Formats: sequence, C-alpha cells, structure tokens
Amino acid sequence: MADYDVIVIGGGPGGYVCAIRCAQLGMNVACVEGRETLGGTCLNVGCIPSKALLHASHMLHEAEHNFATMGLKGKTPSVDWDQMKAYKQSTIDTNTKGIEFLFKKNKIDWIKGWGKITAKGEVTVDGTAHKAKNIVIATGSEPSTLPGIEIDEKIVVSSTGALSLGKVPKKLVVIGAGVIGLEMGSVYARLGSEVTVVEYLDNITPGMDGEVSKSFQKLLKKQGIEFILGAAVQGVEAKSKAKVTYKLRKDDSEHVLDADVVLVATGRRAFTEGLGLEDLGVKTNKRGVVEVQNWKTNVDGIWAIGDVTPGPMLAHKAEDEGMAVAEAIAGQHGHVNYDVIPGVIYTAPEVASVGKTEEALKDEGRAYKVGKFSYMGNARAKAVFEGDGFVKILADKETDRILGVHIIGPAAGELIHEACVAMEFGAAAEDLARTCHAHPTFSEAVREAALACGDGPIHM
Ligand code: NAI
Repeated sequence: MADYDVIVIGGGPGGYVCAIRCAQLGMNVACVEGRETLGGTCLNVGCIPSKALLHASHMLHEAEHNFATMGLKGKTPSVDWDQMKAYKQSTIDTNTKGIEFLFKKNKIDWIKGWGKITAKGEVTVDGTAHKAKNIVIATGSEPSTLPGIEIDEKIVVSSTGALSLGKVPKKLVVIGAGVIGLEMGSVYARLGSEVTVVEYLDNITPGMDGEVSKSFQKLLKKQGIEFILGAAVQGVEAKSKAKVTYKLRKDDSEHVLDADVVLVATGRRAFTEGLGLEDLGVKTNKRGVVEVQNWKTNVDGIWAIGDVTPGPMLAHKAEDEGMAVAEAIAGQHGHVNYDVIPGVIYTAPEVASVGKTEEALKDEGRAYKVGKFSYMGNARAKAVFEGDGFVKILADKETDRILGVHIIGPAAGELIHEACVAMEFGAAAEDLARTCHAHPTFSEAVREAALACGDGPIHM
C-alpha cells in the first residue's frame, strides 16, 4: 500500500503550494526538500531576499534624493551592509518559517533530504523508500553560466552570491540585462557601486514591449547604470579582482572591463540532477526541461510543474500550476490561463506586463489600438516624485478587447493585476475606462490609458 497519495519533490513556490492544495483536497501528502528551510529559490535566495535589498536601497535613494525637498532635513543615512544583510535574512526567516507552519497546519510531512524517483510510485530519500500513488516533480531551476566562466560566488557570482557579497563592490559588472541583472544591478547602483551591464542583444529585457524597454533603459541610465549592448561576453578572468572580456557584435572588436565583482545573470536552467528521470524514461527536451501535457509527464503517475517545465520561470506560474496539478490529481479540472501570467521587475520604477506586446501583435498581423497615459498626468505620482513612466494598453481594433497591458511607473507590480482580472473576464478597454477609480491613486493612470483607447484621457 502507498504511504502517501502524493509526494511532491521540491518545497519551492510550486511544490509547497501543491502540497498545501493536495492536503486541502483531502489527500495524504508529503513534500521532499533538501534545503534547511522550505520555500525554494524564491524564499531563500531569490524573490524575497532581493525584494528586501531592493526596498532598503530604495529607501536610501529616497533619503538621498527626496527627503530634503519634502522638508525632512538631517544627516543622510550611511550603509551598514552587514545590518542590511541581517534584515534581509530576517525577512527570509519569517517567510520560510511561515511555510513550515502551514505544513504543520495542513498535516503535510516534510521529508528532509534530496529525493530520487527510484521506481514508479517510489521516492527514495537518504536510503529510505517512500511509496506514493502520485509523484509531482517541482525541483525548480538553478543559475546557468556561460561556457568557460566559473562561478566562485565571491568575485564571480550568480544571483545567489549577489545577495550576500562580503561588501558593496566599487565596480560591479553585470552580464545579462534580464530581470536578475537589472534588479540586482539597481540595488548595488543605489548602494554606491559603479554598475555596468553587458548585454548580448541590442536592447535590455528581451521579450518586453519595445517602447517600455527603451524607457526603462533611459530611466536606469539616469540612475547611473551604464549599458554596453550588442556585446557578447567571451570570458571572465578572476583573481582578487576580475576582467571581463567582450566582443561588440557590430564590428567584432574586443574590449576588457575591470570589476571587483561580476554578476552572471544570463538565465536559469531546469534542475533535475539526481532525480533519476533518465532511468525512468521521463521525457525531457534538449535543454533538460521536463515535457508535460496538463502537468502530466509521459510516465503514468509522475507529474511536473514550475521551472522544470516549459514556460516562464516565475514563482507565481509555478504556484498556479501547483494548485492546478493538485486539482487534476483529485480528479477535478485544474486550470492555468497561460495567456494571463503577469511579469514584474521590482526596480524603481517597477515594470509590469501581461499579455501581448506591440511587437507580438505586429508579428501576428492583428489590428490593434494603443491607449497610453503618462504618470506625469497622475496627481498622486507627481506628489511622490514618481511621474516617470506610463501605462500602455493594447486592445483589439474592432472589439476593444484588452490584449496586453504594459506599465512602467509607481506600483506597476500591483496595478497590473487590475489588467489581469479584466483580461480573465475578457474585458474591453471600455470596461476599465467606465470603472470608477478612487482619486488620487496610481490606478487612475490605468483607467486613463483605457480612456485613451476610446475618446481620450482626461488629464493629458
Ligand atoms: P534572462 O533570461 O531574463 O536574461 C538573461 C540575459 O542575458 C538576456 O538578455 C541574454 O540576452 C543575456 N545574455 C546571454 N548570454 C550573454 C552573453 N554571452 N553576453 C552578454 N549577455 C548575454 O535571465 P535572468 O535575468 O538570469 O533571469 C532568469 C530567470 O529568473 C528568468 O526566467 C526570470 O524571469 C526569473 N526571475 C524573475 C524575477 C521576477 O519575476 N521579478 C526575478 C528574478 C528572476
């Protein structure tokens, strides 16, 4: 007889949410996690600690740039990096302990250790075999580096090392202008590092709406971050300091940058090492991503969710899949709307988007209209020095249905959900435009952008 209805391997946002939902649906569930604490990359070395550092460094920026204007005078705070890291750690601790509490509350067994699927319906952890009717792989992802570049997590760091540097570096070179590079780059720029971002493509944040990406780059440049675009990094030489060699793609010329620390932020790869997938015949693609259909792998009783599966590597996508797979195992109809998964970059200003970009709509040959509204026309934003940025709504030219929303500006990461809910309900831009929004709020900028899809915004 099986010990469990479900064993989830991995205690990150995909795995722990799946375990909780399984328990709520009356299943007997265990979660295998080898880290000291639950919460996976997100809580331990990803989303949560980076948000703590982004918050602290943003507060410093406010003190340096805006306090005096508001009549708040006094000595500008200096950075106690060890204390900032202690604050970051306490944020991690309260969150990871919170998940442990939820496991106890929902009577979920935490099997501590690294699991291997030793047979269908069997997960072995530290020599002990546990039987389950269903196994969910939720093992997440790990940073991937470039060929020939070795990460030592001191001088050449991944996102993990970047959260715990010994000191704030004088010169930081970031390889890759994706989400991680820009979030961590802006933390260190605000803390006083000279930050240079080297990016292979000719624009930052691949996949983002082009207009937003350009504005974002300008705003980051204004904050002191340098960009070298169209540059392929060739190698990093690290001793007590580092030398980063890159070639400009336009003329193949070679250049060298000096750095105290180099952050390699060139993407992440699915983490399936030691799981035994090959022996079981679980299909993965060339990049090691587990192939699934409705979260089912090709092997009966083995499911997979989150970063090990195709799609964006985002905690909230994994969480949604965690709930959906639990429901599917329980015989219900789990559901994830992959067309409405928001993406947020937690810099200042924040950047958030959902749905199609303008470039994607052009590629599809779809007739669309654009409603745009600048935060300069938003009273609340101006009052708090956050008039930079805009809201852009893309709607079907004929039906007015919202196809994509892109926001760069204050509270973008919160406002985007208004668009997500609207899109889930198949709303037209006019539906947003006719919804009363409290004044004065940042959200009025969303409404004004929706008005701009029709007869025009009021405050522009
Ligand atoms: P990314 O895929 O977002 O960006 C990597 C960048 O590196 C790309 O722009 C790529 O063109 C560039 N690159 C690759 N090779 C290069 C080379 N040789 N020289 C110069 N540039 C090169 O990857 P990133 O930022 O590491 O993030 C990994 C994953 O983690 C992403 O899926 C991201 O969505 C997720 N994440 C999400 C966060 C959020 O939602 N706020 C926060 C942190 C990570």
